[in-house]
Amino acid sequence: MPGTLASDYNSWKKLQSIFDSQRDQLVLKDLFTQDPARFDRFSRTYTDPADPSTTLLLDFSKNLITESILTTLLSLVQEANVESARDDMYRGAHINTSEDRAVLHLALRNLEQTYNIPEEGTNEVLDVLQHIKVFTNAVRNGEWKGYTGKRIDTIVNIGIGGSDLGPVMVTEALKHYSQRDLTSHFVSNIDGTHLAETVRACNPETTLFIVASKTFTTQETITNATSAREWFLSFAKDKSHVAKHFVALSTNTKAVTEFGIAKENMFKFWDWVGGRYSLWSAIGLSIALVIGYDNFEQLLKGAHGMDKHFKETPLEAEPPGSPSSYRRNDNRPCSLGSQTYHSPGAQTHALLPYDQYLHKFADYFQQGDMESNGKFITKDGRRVDYQTGPIIWGAAGTNGQHSFYQLLHQGTKLVPADFIAPATLRHSLFGKTEEQVRKEVGSGASEALVKSKVFEGNRPSNSILFPILTPRTLGALIALYEHKIFVQGVIWGINSFDQMGVELGKVLAKNILAQLEKPEDVKGHDSSTTGLIHYYQKHRKE
Ligand code: F6P
Repeated sequence: MPGTLASDYNSWKKLQSIFDSQRDQLVLKDLFTQDPARFDRFSRTYTDPADPSTTLLLDFSKNLITESILTTLLSLVQEANVESARDDMYRGAHINTSEDRAVLHLALRNLEQTYNIPEEGTNEVLDVLQHIKVFTNAVRNGEWKGYTGKRIDTIVNIGIGGSDLGPVMVTEALKHYSQRDLTSHFVSNIDGTHLAETVRACNPETTLFIVASKTFTTQETITNATSAREWFLSFAKDKSHVAKHFVALSTNTKAVTEFGIAKENMFKFWDWVGGRYSLWSAIGLSIALVIGYDNFEQLLKGAHGMDKHFKETPLEAEPPGSPSSYRRNDNRPCSLGSQTYHSPGAQTHALLPYDQYLHKFADYFQQGDMESNGKFITKDGRRVDYQTGPIIWGAAGTNGQHSFYQLLHQGTKLVPADFIAPATLRHSLFGKTEEQVRKEVGSGASEALVKSKVFEGNRPSNSILFPILTPRTLGALIALYEHKIFVQGVIWGINSFDQMGVELGKVLAKNILAQLEKPEDVKGHDSSTTGLIHYYQKHRKE
């Protein structure tokens, strides 16, 4: 039943007792020695049936996992009714219960109409994609002209959160596919510096501003969009020119037209698209402009392949078959089951892509995962008595090795990690025993030196490999993580699709903003907030 405490499930209790009783046996080095077929047993391959070149290997053998733990995990998935929750999502049920909304980012990539979803707007997805295609082609081939008749050579996406992070991550990841004579910038911070530094590189005659905001009420975005329009008009003068240089991506037609953007320059989407799941929607306009509409469509198709995999492959417990049976192109998304596995005591999860193009991947899933599952109340209002969403962080792999890997290897904190890498770059955690160290450093070494070189290891990790980073592969990879977040939320009994914590922030910001003018306006806060506001008022310089 949605909202059940995960700790009430029998399989959850069984997992706990397995960890308590087997903790000393869960030593990765030994687990691999005892089972030469461990990699085969605990790795899965996904291949997109519609495009065999889109394939992902998930190796979860370097988790503290055994057959009994895996089977129990999958029992947990079944006990939590993940499959029926999944089917509810796919049929448009309002699973975002607190906001009474459907959760249908999958409908944005349902191009072949595989799923017939009777939710208002789903039948307009292809129309919006057609609008994106026509507009994107016109800008990229120079048909769309600025107010002095010149083609657009620069786009500036103004948005924040899901209206920024997805486009940033994907345009970075797929830069190889970008049209190099079209420059893209992304402005998100309300700190005036972000926009000011950006427009220094822009020619008002050839720049297109994309105001990306689902609600079109977000303070940061509307402030930046207003400033950008003032900057533009300081050159163009005539307001009628705004239509050639500003488009909007939103669900809020009224607010868009009140801002002064023509309705025909608006690319719409719907309330069943969560901000952090919106890159597949009109929010992806900047992606289509940078990599071209056809590649944007490949991204959608890659995600759709994973959607079908998640929907159609039974989440049943894997038969404890022979290793060879695991090698088969076995599409069962066991990975999803295993990825609900929470290393005991881990508080964070590192995403470590070994590909510079994916250097924004962790940033993207900070919002994707933490804004989805950073909650302590279940769907039916009960306080959880277990850990929910992890702190997501990470950076491109090699750079991390010269920054934080020391802690990953020899620190006092357990940090599960996902290593993500293409086999082909477009331009390798067991530890080391004291005995091994002594052999290396020789008998003369001090005890302190020997101890400092020991790697206890046993630090769990997943590895996700794929042949090469294509739009379709990236689509599948992002969708895999989206579905992992979904599965975890269902098991924890939480609503992964509202964001009450940050909605509060928006309200508080508006209240304080109204009081910033004079010290006597400041009221209704604790003494710290009051003191901080007064300090700001005393020291700010216009
Ligand atoms: O962070 C809160 C939030 O609502 C996110 O969920 C969303 O992606 C972001 O603000 C921006 O919202 P909008 O797209 O409506 O401007």
